[in-house]
Amino acid sequence: MTLEPAPADTRTTPWWADAVIYQVYPRSFADADGDGMGDLPGITSRLDHLASLGVDALWLSPFYLSPQHDAGYDVADYRQVDPRFGSLADFDALREKADRLGIRTIVDLVPNHTSDEHVWFQAALAAAPGSPERDRYIFRDGRGPDGAEPPNNWTSVFGGPGWTRVPDGQWYLHLFDVTQPDLNWHNPEVVAEFDDVIRFWLDRGVHGFRVDVAHGLVKHPDLPDWDGHTAMVEGTTRTGGADPIEEHVPAPMFDQDGVHEIYRHWNDILGEYDGDRMMVAEAWVEPAPRLAKYVRPDEMQQAFNFEFLIEGWDAAGMARAVDSVMAANEAVGAPTTWVLSNHDVVRHASRFGLADPTGRSAGIGADDEQPDAGIGLRRARAATLAMLALPGSAYLYQGEELGLPEATQLPADAREDPTFVRSGGADVGRDGCRVPLPWEAGAPAYGFSPTGASWLPQPASFADLAADAQEGVPGSTLELYRQMTALRRELHLGTGTMAWAEEHAPAEGILAFTTEGVLVVLNTADRAFELPAGAELLLGSVPDAIDGGALVPDAAVWLRLP
Ligand code: GLC
Repeated sequence: MTLEPAPADTRTTPWWADAVIYQVYPRSFADADGDGMGDLPGITSRLDHLASLGVDALWLSPFYLSPQHDAGYDVADYRQVDPRFGSLADFDALREKADRLGIRTIVDLVPNHTSDEHVWFQAALAAAPGSPERDRYIFRDGRGPDGAEPPNNWTSVFGGPGWTRVPDGQWYLHLFDVTQPDLNWHNPEVVAEFDDVIRFWLDRGVHGFRVDVAHGLVKHPDLPDWDGHTAMVEGTTRTGGADPIEEHVPAPMFDQDGVHEIYRHWNDILGEYDGDRMMVAEAWVEPAPRLAKYVRPDEMQQAFNFEFLIEGWDAAGMARAVDSVMAANEAVGAPTTWVLSNHDVVRHASRFGLADPTGRSAGIGADDEQPDAGIGLRRARAATLAMLALPGSAYLYQGEELGLPEATQLPADAREDPTFVRSGGADVGRDGCRVPLPWEAGAPAYGFSPTGASWLPQPASFADLAADAQEGVPGSTLELYRQMTALRRELHLGTGTMAWAEEHAPAEGILAFTTEGVLVVLNTADRAFELPAGAELLLGSVPDAIDGGALVPDAAVWLRLP
């Protein structure tokens, strides 16, 4: 299938290499039908916002048919739009309008598991142990007398056991919720089905896929017991030997070498299509050279670089993350990616307002330490300014352009993340970063829905942060994001290379680098530092970033040297 070339695209490198990609979380972006849940027509109606933000592409989190036990990451039919979100025609309309605006569309692919409502899982439950229907999933007999013990000791990433027993006594594996049975990627039917799903969406004109839990599809063939904690962020371990890459031991459910064959095969499918279609791996894999294997020339095009995201407010740590990921990616010839927020982590405007932002916490509750909103937002703006100058592609999460904080006061009965329930409330979960967006300060549900309905309550602080309250306001976070993407494009930031500028980082806490003739300086220390005399200020993360020739704390600048 042939796609129209994107407007004014004369580059020779693929579009995704330095693209700014905006994550839309359909449940919470905009609700056209007023049921309190966002939908595809809502997104289409607000695409001008993305155009004015100057992003190159949007990535849609799942909108497929789903019982929504994990907010759509439990897919019951990979080729249907859930009626909550609209129809296939609504998807086509969205994709076509985005194309007209020069914004490419990336969709989520969830291949590690299906929903328990998927016809395959229903067939597996109805069929006997040992049947072809069961072989599409990971069913095993239990251990102990009568097989009453699970086949191994794996736990679910969301808490609780990783196995559930069915009435005939067998057990099925679910690395996530009990309603998300893991697929068996050794079964050729599973492989063929996803080939077809991928082609289905490529034929509908999508430019790429974000691949969910890309490191999880293949499990160790023996399904051995494992005493580690089954978590996305801590899913791998290192031996600490002489060669940490070679001696690295992945957890038996993650980052098994067999996953790479799947991605080589998918890359062949992408190659049948024009227009530099791409895939980005969501793979919580360490160390960086293991992650870089996912972006070897014949595999995926991108992988999220979470090493940068999990750093704290610490210039040295950020520099280490930059070095480590860039070196690993250069070794395989792939550009890198940058991201500070998504639908699974605490929003960076709040993370940076905590005493220790490195807590890899997936949520903040009312009883937890509350972030300092002012400091958090200042630091978030500064970190984003630095991030958007780094070579590579950058991902933005909806609402960060408004400076939205994490919602920390959500009542227990409003929370929907299965993590909250499965951990018995110990882990409040990720709802706090998923609250519907505020568009209009004075409208019901701040303009999210025409009826004022909202599937999660919006904090009162959203009023001042609504898009219309920031529109055209100098110094607002929204206007800063627009300036950053416009100037990034004009100055070709994101392309080329970078070099540390130690001569401009006079003390601990200062991060300084040059790229495309621009000097970027970020101040994570608690005092101001002199900037080079005569430098021209191109952009500051806050209007008062420079005071008497010095860069103030919690701020960053792009400068042109004399
Ligand atoms: C990915 C998604 C997350 C989901 C999980 C299970 O990590 O980003 O939201 O819960 O996969 O599908």
